[in-house]
Amino acid sequence: MAPTARVALASSSLLKSNQNVISAVATRASSWWSHVEMGPPDAILGVTEAYKRDTNPKKINLGVGAYRDDNGKPFVLPSVREAEDKIRAKNMDKEYAPIAGNPEYCKLSILLALGDNSEIVKNGLNATLQGISGTGSLRIGAAFLEKFFPGNKEVYLPTPSWGNHTPIFKHAGLNVKQYRYYDPKTCGFDFQGALQDIAKIPEKSIILFHACAHNPTGVDPKPEQWKEIANVVKQKKLFPFFDMAYQGFASGDVTRDAFAVRHFVQEGHQIILTQSYAKNMGLYGERAGAFSLIAGSKQEADTTMSQLKILVRPMYSNPPINGARIVTEILSDPTLKAKWLKDVKGMADRIISVRTQLRDNLKKEGSTRDWSHITDQIGMFCFTGMNPQQSERLTKEFSIYLTKDGRISMAGVTTKNVEYLAHGIHQVTK
Ligand SMILES: Cc1ncc(COP(=O)(O)O)c(C=O)c1O
Repeated sequence: MAPTARVALASSSLLKSNQNVISAVATRASSWWSHVEMGPPDAILGVTEAYKRDTNPKKINLGVGAYRDDNGKPFVLPSVREAEDKIRAKNMDKEYAPIAGNPEYCKLSILLALGDNSEIVKNGLNATLQGISGTGSLRIGAAFLEKFFPGNKEVYLPTPSWGNHTPIFKHAGLNVKQYRYYDPKTCGFDFQGALQDIAKIPEKSIILFHACAHNPTGVDPKPEQWKEIANVVKQKKLFPFFDMAYQGFASGDVTRDAFAVRHFVQEGHQIILTQSYAKNMGLYGERAGAFSLIAGSKQEADTTMSQLKILVRPMYSNPPINGARIVTEILSDPTLKAKWLKDVKGMADRIISVRTQLRDNLKKEGSTRDWSHITDQIGMFCFTGMNPQQSERLTKEFSIYLTKDGRISMAGVTTKNVEYLAHGIHQVTK
Protein backbone atom coordinates (compact mmCIF):
# COMPACT_ATOMS: atom_id res chain seq x y z
CA MET A 1 0.00 0.00 0.00
CA ALA A 2 1.22 3.52 -0.88
CA PRO A 3 2.23 5.63 2.17
CA THR A 4 -0.54 8.19 1.44
CA ALA A 5 -3.16 5.41 1.32
CA ARG A 6 -1.82 4.01 4.64
CA VAL A 7 -2.13 7.46 6.26
CA ALA A 8 -5.68 7.85 4.87
CA LEU A 9 -6.67 4.39 6.23
CA ALA A 10 -5.13 5.10 9.65
CA SER A 11 -6.85 8.47 9.94
CA SER A 12 -10.21 7.02 8.85
CA SER A 13 -10.04 4.24 11.51
CA LEU A 14 -9.00 6.88 14.08
CA LEU A 15 -12.02 8.93 13.04
CA LYS A 16 -14.28 5.86 13.38
CA SER A 17 -12.99 5.01 16.84
CA ASN A 18 -13.43 8.68 17.86
CA GLN A 19 -16.98 8.56 16.56
CA ASN A 20 -17.59 5.40 18.60
CA VAL A 21 -16.34 7.16 21.74
CA ILE A 22 -18.47 10.21 20.98
CA SER A 23 -21.59 8.12 20.35
CA ALA A 24 -20.98 6.07 23.56
CA VAL A 25 -20.72 9.35 25.52
CA ALA A 26 -23.82 10.66 23.77
CA THR A 27 -25.69 7.45 24.56
CA ARG A 28 -24.66 7.73 28.20
CA ALA A 29 -25.72 11.38 28.35
CA SER A 30 -29.20 10.43 27.17
CA SER A 31 -29.38 7.29 29.32
CA TRP A 32 -32.63 5.51 29.98
CA TRP A 33 -32.25 6.46 33.64
CA SER A 34 -31.21 10.13 33.54
CA HIS A 35 -34.69 11.15 34.78
CA VAL A 36 -34.39 9.06 37.99
CA GLU A 37 -34.01 11.36 40.97
CA MET A 38 -32.16 10.52 44.18
CA GLY A 39 -34.62 9.17 46.75
CA PRO A 40 -34.44 9.98 50.45
CA PRO A 41 -32.56 7.52 52.70
CA ASP A 42 -34.68 5.15 54.81
CA ALA A 43 -35.66 7.03 58.00
CA ILE A 44 -34.57 4.21 60.32
CA LEU A 45 -31.59 2.72 58.47
CA GLY A 46 -30.27 6.29 58.02
CA VAL A 47 -30.07 6.58 61.82
CA THR A 48 -27.84 3.48 61.98
CA GLU A 49 -25.56 4.89 59.27
CA ALA A 50 -25.09 8.12 61.24
CA TYR A 51 -24.47 6.10 64.44
CA LYS A 52 -21.73 4.06 62.73
CA ARG A 53 -19.90 7.24 61.69
CA ASP A 54 -19.90 8.65 65.26
CA THR A 55 -16.63 8.12 67.17
CA ASN A 56 -17.98 9.00 70.66
CA PRO A 57 -17.37 5.90 72.85
CA LYS A 58 -20.59 6.66 74.73
CA LYS A 59 -22.78 6.58 71.60
CA ILE A 60 -26.03 4.61 71.72
CA ASN A 61 -28.15 3.39 68.79
CA LEU A 62 -31.83 3.43 69.70
CA GLY A 63 -33.07 3.58 66.13
CA VAL A 64 -33.03 -0.02 65.01
CA GLY A 65 -35.84 -2.41 65.94
CA ALA A 66 -33.75 -5.50 66.63
CA TYR A 67 -33.22 -7.06 70.05
CA ARG A 68 -29.85 -6.64 71.76
CA ASP A 69 -28.60 -8.39 74.90
CA ASP A 70 -27.47 -6.50 77.99
CA ASN A 71 -24.05 -6.00 76.36
CA GLY A 72 -25.70 -4.35 73.37
CA LYS A 73 -24.91 -7.35 71.16
CA PRO A 74 -27.21 -9.15 68.67
CA PHE A 75 -28.75 -12.20 70.29
CA VAL A 76 -29.35 -15.66 68.81
CA LEU A 77 -31.87 -17.53 70.95
CA PRO A 78 -30.49 -20.75 72.52
CA SER A 79 -33.64 -22.58 71.30
CA VAL A 80 -32.85 -21.42 67.75
CA ARG A 81 -29.24 -22.67 68.05
CA GLU A 82 -30.56 -26.05 69.20
CA ALA A 83 -33.05 -26.21 66.31
CA GLU A 84 -30.20 -25.42 63.89
CA ASP A 85 -28.11 -28.29 65.32
CA LYS A 86 -31.02 -30.67 64.83
CA ILE A 87 -31.57 -29.51 61.25
CA ARG A 88 -27.86 -29.90 60.45
CA ALA A 89 -27.92 -33.46 61.79
CA LYS A 90 -30.80 -34.29 59.42
CA ASN A 91 -28.64 -33.40 56.40
CA MET A 92 -31.66 -32.14 54.45
CA ASP A 93 -31.71 -31.20 50.76
CA LYS A 94 -32.11 -27.69 49.34
CA GLU A 95 -35.05 -28.34 47.00
CA TYR A 96 -37.66 -25.61 46.39
CA ALA A 97 -40.44 -25.22 48.93
CA PRO A 98 -44.00 -25.39 47.58
CA ILE A 99 -45.46 -21.99 46.51
CA ALA A 100 -47.31 -21.72 49.82
CA GLY A 101 -44.33 -22.93 51.83
CA ASN A 102 -44.05 -25.94 54.08
CA PRO A 103 -47.60 -27.09 55.10
CA GLU A 104 -46.46 -28.17 58.60
CA TYR A 105 -44.92 -24.74 59.17
CA CYS A 106 -48.17 -23.09 58.06
CA LYS A 107 -50.26 -25.22 60.40
CA LEU A 108 -47.94 -24.62 63.38
CA SER A 109 -48.00 -20.87 62.66
CA ILE A 110 -51.77 -20.52 62.62
CA LEU A 111 -52.03 -22.68 65.75
CA LEU A 112 -49.54 -20.43 67.51
CA ALA A 113 -51.75 -17.45 66.67
CA LEU A 114 -55.20 -18.93 67.31
CA GLY A 115 -54.36 -21.53 69.98
CA ASP A 116 -53.88 -25.30 69.83
CA ASN A 117 -57.62 -25.99 70.15
CA SER A 118 -58.70 -23.56 67.47
CA GLU A 119 -62.02 -24.59 65.90
CA ILE A 120 -61.09 -22.60 62.80
CA VAL A 121 -58.05 -24.81 62.20
CA LYS A 122 -59.93 -28.01 63.13
CA ASN A 123 -62.59 -27.16 60.54
CA GLY A 124 -60.07 -26.19 57.86
CA LEU A 125 -61.34 -22.61 57.61
CA ASN A 126 -57.92 -20.96 57.39
CA ALA A 127 -55.95 -20.38 54.21
CA THR A 128 -52.38 -20.01 55.49
CA LEU A 129 -49.20 -19.65 53.53
CA GLN A 130 -45.61 -18.93 54.40
CA GLY A 131 -44.73 -15.31 53.63
CA ILE A 132 -41.38 -13.55 53.45
CA SER A 133 -41.42 -12.49 57.09
CA GLY A 134 -43.99 -9.92 58.24
CA THR A 135 -43.40 -7.46 55.40
CA GLY A 136 -43.81 -10.07 52.65
CA SER A 137 -46.93 -11.47 54.32
CA LEU A 138 -48.44 -7.97 54.51
CA ARG A 139 -47.59 -7.51 50.84
CA ILE A 140 -49.45 -10.73 49.94
CA GLY A 141 -52.44 -9.49 51.96
CA ALA A 142 -52.38 -6.13 50.19
CA ALA A 143 -52.22 -7.80 46.75
CA PHE A 144 -55.04 -10.20 47.61
CA LEU A 145 -57.30 -7.42 48.92
CA GLU A 146 -56.59 -5.27 45.89
CA LYS A 147 -57.71 -8.08 43.63
CA PHE A 148 -60.54 -9.70 45.56
CA PHE A 149 -61.85 -7.49 48.37
CA PRO A 150 -65.55 -6.95 47.63
CA GLY A 151 -65.85 -3.66 49.58
CA ASN A 152 -64.01 -0.29 49.48
CA LYS A 153 -60.39 -0.69 48.51
CA GLU A 154 -59.41 1.57 51.40
CA VAL A 155 -57.23 0.61 54.34
CA TYR A 156 -57.50 2.60 57.58
CA LEU A 157 -54.27 2.68 59.58
CA PRO A 158 -53.75 3.85 63.16
CA THR A 159 -52.03 7.25 63.53
CA PRO A 160 -49.11 6.78 63.68
CA SER A 161 -48.35 3.34 62.29
CA TRP A 162 -45.26 1.38 61.29
CA GLY A 163 -43.61 3.43 58.52
CA ASN A 164 -43.78 0.59 56.00
CA HIS A 165 -47.56 0.06 56.18
CA THR A 166 -48.48 2.98 53.93
CA PRO A 167 -46.03 2.10 51.11
CA ILE A 168 -46.95 -1.61 51.30
CA PHE A 169 -50.67 -0.95 50.78
CA LYS A 170 -50.16 1.88 48.30
CA HIS A 171 -47.77 -0.22 46.26
CA ALA A 172 -50.53 -2.81 45.88
CA GLY A 173 -52.90 -0.07 44.66
CA LEU A 174 -55.05 0.43 47.78
CA ASN A 175 -55.97 3.82 49.24
CA VAL A 176 -54.58 4.51 52.69
CA LYS A 177 -56.45 6.53 55.32
CA GLN A 178 -56.09 7.01 59.08
CA TYR A 179 -57.91 6.68 62.36
CA ARG A 180 -56.84 8.29 65.65
CA TYR A 181 -54.78 6.02 67.90
CA TYR A 182 -52.04 7.74 69.91
CA ASP A 183 -52.73 10.64 72.24
CA PRO A 184 -49.63 12.90 72.50
CA LYS A 185 -51.06 14.54 75.62
CA THR A 186 -51.07 11.32 77.64
CA CYS A 187 -48.47 9.39 75.58
CA GLY A 188 -51.15 6.67 75.71
CA PHE A 189 -54.02 5.18 73.70
CA ASP A 190 -56.65 7.63 72.47
CA PHE A 191 -59.52 5.19 73.05
CA GLN A 192 -62.37 7.68 72.56
CA GLY A 193 -60.71 9.23 69.51
CA ALA A 194 -60.16 5.79 67.98
CA LEU A 195 -63.77 4.71 68.60
CA GLN A 196 -65.14 7.96 67.15
CA ASP A 197 -63.00 7.69 64.03
CA ILE A 198 -63.70 3.99 63.52
CA ALA A 199 -67.43 4.68 63.80
CA LYS A 200 -67.08 7.15 60.90
CA ILE A 201 -65.25 4.78 58.54
CA PRO A 202 -67.46 3.91 55.54
CA GLU A 203 -68.94 0.40 55.76
CA LYS A 204 -67.03 -2.43 54.12
CA SER A 205 -63.65 -0.75 54.37
CA ILE A 206 -60.47 -2.44 55.65
CA ILE A 207 -59.06 -1.55 59.07
CA LEU A 208 -55.56 -2.47 60.17
CA PHE A 209 -54.66 -3.28 63.77
CA HIS A 210 -51.31 -4.05 65.37
CA ALA A 211 -52.14 -7.22 67.32
CA CYS A 212 -49.76 -6.26 70.14
CA ALA A 213 -46.71 -4.08 70.86
CA HIS A 214 -47.84 -1.29 68.54
CA ASN A 215 -44.95 0.12 66.53
CA PRO A 216 -43.90 2.95 66.92
CA THR A 217 -45.83 3.91 70.07
CA GLY A 218 -45.68 0.82 72.34
CA VAL A 219 -49.29 1.66 73.20
CA ASP A 220 -51.82 -1.20 73.07
CA PRO A 221 -55.57 -1.21 73.86
CA LYS A 222 -56.50 -3.09 77.04
CA PRO A 223 -58.56 -6.32 76.62
CA GLU A 224 -61.79 -4.48 77.54
CA GLN A 225 -61.02 -1.82 74.96
CA TRP A 226 -60.31 -4.45 72.29
CA LYS A 227 -63.76 -5.91 73.01
CA GLU A 228 -65.44 -2.55 72.37
CA ILE A 229 -63.39 -2.03 69.23
CA ALA A 230 -64.45 -5.49 67.97
CA ASN A 231 -68.09 -4.49 68.49
CA VAL A 232 -67.79 -1.24 66.54
CA VAL A 233 -65.90 -3.03 63.76
CA LYS A 234 -68.78 -5.52 63.56
CA GLN A 235 -71.50 -2.84 63.61
CA LYS A 236 -69.74 -0.91 60.86
CA LYS A 237 -69.13 -4.08 58.80
CA LEU A 238 -65.41 -3.33 58.60
CA PHE A 239 -62.83 -5.88 57.56
CA PRO A 240 -60.12 -6.40 60.22
CA PHE A 241 -56.53 -6.96 59.13
CA PHE A 242 -54.20 -7.92 62.01
CA ASP A 243 -50.46 -7.40 61.78
CA MET A 244 -48.88 -9.56 64.49
CA ALA A 245 -45.13 -8.94 64.37
CA TYR A 246 -44.42 -9.33 68.11
CA GLN A 247 -46.37 -12.30 69.53
CA GLY A 248 -44.73 -13.15 72.87
CA PHE A 249 -42.29 -10.28 72.61
CA ALA A 250 -44.69 -7.76 74.19
CA SER A 251 -45.65 -9.38 77.49
CA GLY A 252 -43.43 -12.47 77.39
CA ASP A 253 -46.53 -14.64 76.97
CA VAL A 254 -47.65 -15.75 73.49
CA THR A 255 -51.25 -16.38 74.62
CA ARG A 256 -51.65 -12.98 76.25
CA ASP A 257 -50.22 -11.21 73.21
CA ALA A 258 -52.69 -13.04 70.94
CA PHE A 259 -55.71 -11.80 72.91
CA ALA A 260 -57.01 -9.33 70.32
CA VAL A 261 -56.63 -11.75 67.39
CA ARG A 262 -58.32 -14.60 69.26
CA HIS A 263 -61.11 -12.37 70.53
CA PHE A 264 -61.98 -11.06 67.05
CA VAL A 265 -61.99 -14.61 65.67
CA GLN A 266 -64.19 -15.86 68.54
CA GLU A 267 -66.61 -13.03 67.79
CA GLY A 268 -66.95 -14.34 64.25
CA HIS A 269 -64.78 -11.79 62.43
CA GLN A 270 -63.18 -13.21 59.30
CA ILE A 271 -59.80 -11.64 59.79
CA ILE A 272 -56.64 -11.50 57.73
CA LEU A 273 -53.56 -12.12 59.86
CA THR A 274 -49.88 -11.64 59.17
CA GLN A 275 -47.20 -13.09 61.44
CA SER A 276 -43.46 -12.58 61.71
CA TYR A 277 -40.81 -14.63 63.50
CA ALA A 278 -38.24 -11.84 63.16
CA LYS A 279 -38.62 -10.56 66.71
CA ASN A 280 -40.03 -13.41 68.78
CA MET A 281 -37.52 -15.96 67.43
CA GLY A 282 -34.83 -13.43 66.53
CA LEU A 283 -34.95 -14.71 62.93
CA TYR A 284 -34.66 -11.21 61.39
CA GLY A 285 -32.66 -12.12 58.30
CA GLU A 286 -34.24 -15.55 57.82
CA ARG A 287 -37.47 -13.90 56.63
CA ALA A 288 -39.92 -16.37 58.16
CA GLY A 289 -43.52 -15.19 58.35
CA ALA A 290 -47.05 -16.29 57.58
CA PHE A 291 -50.19 -14.97 55.94
CA SER A 292 -53.63 -16.31 56.88
CA LEU A 293 -57.18 -15.52 56.02
CA ILE A 294 -60.22 -16.98 57.73
CA ALA A 295 -62.74 -18.19 55.20
CA GLY A 296 -66.48 -18.88 55.56
CA SER A 297 -66.17 -22.55 54.61
CA LYS A 298 -63.58 -25.20 53.87
CA GLN A 299 -64.32 -24.78 50.17
CA GLU A 300 -63.74 -21.02 50.42
CA ALA A 301 -60.44 -21.68 52.20
CA ASP A 302 -59.43 -23.85 49.23
CA THR A 303 -60.51 -21.37 46.56
CA THR A 304 -58.83 -18.40 48.28
CA MET A 305 -55.69 -20.49 48.76
CA SER A 306 -55.60 -21.31 45.05
CA GLN A 307 -55.75 -17.58 44.22
CA LEU A 308 -53.13 -16.71 46.83
CA LYS A 309 -50.74 -19.14 45.19
CA ILE A 310 -51.46 -17.57 41.80
CA LEU A 311 -50.51 -14.18 43.27
CA VAL A 312 -47.32 -15.47 44.92
CA ARG A 313 -45.94 -17.40 41.93
CA PRO A 314 -45.00 -14.36 39.80
CA MET A 315 -43.91 -12.31 42.86
CA TYR A 316 -41.19 -14.61 44.24
CA SER A 317 -42.18 -18.13 43.18
CA ASN A 318 -41.73 -19.79 46.57
CA PRO A 319 -40.44 -18.82 50.01
CA PRO A 320 -37.00 -19.42 51.58
CA ILE A 321 -36.62 -22.74 53.37
CA ASN A 322 -34.19 -22.26 56.23
CA GLY A 323 -36.09 -19.98 58.62
CA ALA A 324 -39.24 -22.06 58.17
CA ARG A 325 -37.28 -25.19 59.08
CA ILE A 326 -36.06 -23.57 62.30
CA VAL A 327 -39.59 -22.47 63.24
CA THR A 328 -41.03 -25.91 62.44
CA GLU A 329 -38.35 -27.65 64.49
CA ILE A 330 -39.13 -25.43 67.49
CA LEU A 331 -42.91 -25.43 67.34
CA SER A 332 -43.29 -29.15 66.60
CA ASP A 333 -41.14 -30.35 69.51
CA PRO A 334 -42.80 -29.71 72.92
CA THR A 335 -39.46 -29.66 74.79
CA LEU A 336 -37.85 -27.25 72.37
CA LYS A 337 -41.01 -25.14 72.24
CA ALA A 338 -40.90 -24.82 76.04
CA LYS A 339 -37.28 -23.63 75.77
CA TRP A 340 -38.28 -21.09 73.13
CA LEU A 341 -41.12 -19.76 75.28
CA LYS A 342 -38.54 -19.24 78.04
CA ASP A 343 -36.21 -17.45 75.60
CA VAL A 344 -39.02 -15.10 74.47
CA LYS A 345 -39.93 -14.36 78.05
CA GLY A 346 -36.28 -13.61 78.80
CA MET A 347 -36.17 -11.01 76.02
CA ALA A 348 -39.50 -9.44 77.01
CA ASP A 349 -38.48 -9.35 80.68
CA ARG A 350 -35.19 -7.63 79.91
CA ILE A 351 -37.06 -4.93 77.98
CA ILE A 352 -39.62 -4.51 80.76
CA SER A 353 -36.79 -4.23 83.29
CA VAL A 354 -34.86 -1.53 81.38
CA ARG A 355 -38.10 0.44 81.06
CA THR A 356 -38.27 0.59 84.87
CA GLN A 357 -34.57 1.42 85.10
CA LEU A 358 -34.94 4.28 82.61
CA ARG A 359 -37.87 5.72 84.53
CA ASP A 360 -36.04 5.39 87.88
CA ASN A 361 -32.89 7.00 86.49
CA LEU A 362 -34.87 9.94 85.08
CA LYS A 363 -36.23 10.50 88.57
CA LYS A 364 -32.73 10.25 90.01
CA GLU A 365 -31.55 12.87 87.48
CA GLY A 366 -34.15 15.17 89.00
CA SER A 367 -36.70 15.13 86.18
CA THR A 368 -40.11 16.25 87.41
CA ARG A 369 -41.92 15.22 84.23
CA ASP A 370 -44.37 12.33 84.27
CA TRP A 371 -42.52 9.42 82.67
CA SER A 372 -45.07 6.73 83.59
CA HIS A 373 -45.71 6.04 79.89
CA ILE A 374 -42.22 4.50 79.66
CA THR A 375 -43.39 1.59 81.82
CA ASP A 376 -47.02 1.65 80.62
CA GLN A 377 -45.97 1.13 77.01
CA ILE A 378 -45.02 -2.34 75.87
CA GLY A 379 -42.79 -4.14 73.38
CA MET A 380 -39.70 -3.09 71.48
CA PHE A 381 -40.40 0.65 71.31
CA CYS A 382 -41.04 3.57 73.59
CA PHE A 383 -42.64 6.74 72.25
CA THR A 384 -40.92 9.09 74.68
CA GLY A 385 -42.93 12.21 73.89
CA MET A 386 -39.73 14.10 72.95
CA ASN A 387 -40.25 16.50 70.05
CA PRO A 388 -38.00 16.61 66.94
CA GLN A 389 -35.81 19.41 68.40
CA GLN A 390 -35.24 17.47 71.64
CA SER A 391 -34.53 14.26 69.69
CA GLU A 392 -32.02 16.11 67.53
CA ARG A 393 -30.29 17.62 70.57
CA LEU A 394 -30.02 14.15 72.10
CA THR A 395 -28.17 13.01 69.00
CA LYS A 396 -25.99 16.12 68.56
CA GLU A 397 -25.02 16.64 72.18
CA PHE A 398 -25.03 13.07 73.54
CA SER A 399 -24.49 10.82 70.49
CA ILE A 400 -27.77 9.05 71.27
CA TYR A 401 -29.38 8.05 67.98
CA LEU A 402 -33.17 7.81 67.55
CA THR A 403 -35.85 8.70 65.01
CA LYS A 404 -37.04 12.32 65.03
CA ASP A 405 -40.50 11.35 66.27
CA GLY A 406 -38.94 10.61 69.69
CA ARG A 407 -39.22 6.83 69.34
CA ILE A 408 -36.51 4.85 71.07
CA SER A 409 -35.87 1.15 70.70
CA MET A 410 -35.83 -0.22 74.24
CA ALA A 411 -33.81 -3.15 72.89
CA GLY A 412 -30.79 -0.84 72.63
CA VAL A 413 -31.00 0.17 76.31
CA THR A 414 -28.81 -1.82 78.73
CA THR A 415 -27.90 -1.72 82.43
CA LYS A 416 -24.62 -0.13 81.28
CA ASN A 417 -26.01 2.78 79.22
CA VAL A 418 -29.33 3.50 80.94
CA GLU A 419 -27.88 6.12 83.33
CA TYR A 420 -26.21 8.02 80.48
CA LEU A 421 -29.45 7.82 78.45
CA ALA A 422 -31.53 9.15 81.36
CA HIS A 423 -29.02 11.97 81.83
CA GLY A 424 -29.25 12.93 78.15
CA ILE A 425 -33.05 12.79 78.07
CA HIS A 426 -33.31 14.91 81.21
CA GLN A 427 -30.88 17.53 79.83
CA VAL A 428 -32.90 18.00 76.62
CA THR A 429 -36.36 17.91 78.26
CA LYS A 430 -35.91 19.96 81.45
C1 LIG B 1 -45.65 -3.46 63.04
C2 LIG B 1 -44.71 -4.25 62.21
N1 LIG B 1 -45.19 -5.03 61.25
C3 LIG B 1 -44.40 -5.78 60.49
C4 LIG B 1 -43.04 -5.78 60.66
C5 LIG B 1 -42.29 -6.66 59.73
O1 LIG B 1 -41.04 -7.01 59.98
P1 LIG B 1 -40.34 -8.22 59.20
O2 LIG B 1 -40.65 -8.07 57.76
O3 LIG B 1 -38.91 -8.04 59.51
O4 LIG B 1 -40.92 -9.47 59.76
C6 LIG B 1 -42.47 -4.95 61.64
C7 LIG B 1 -41.02 -4.85 61.83
O5 LIG B 1 -40.46 -3.93 62.36
C8 LIG B 1 -43.34 -4.19 62.46
O6 LIG B 1 -42.88 -3.42 63.44
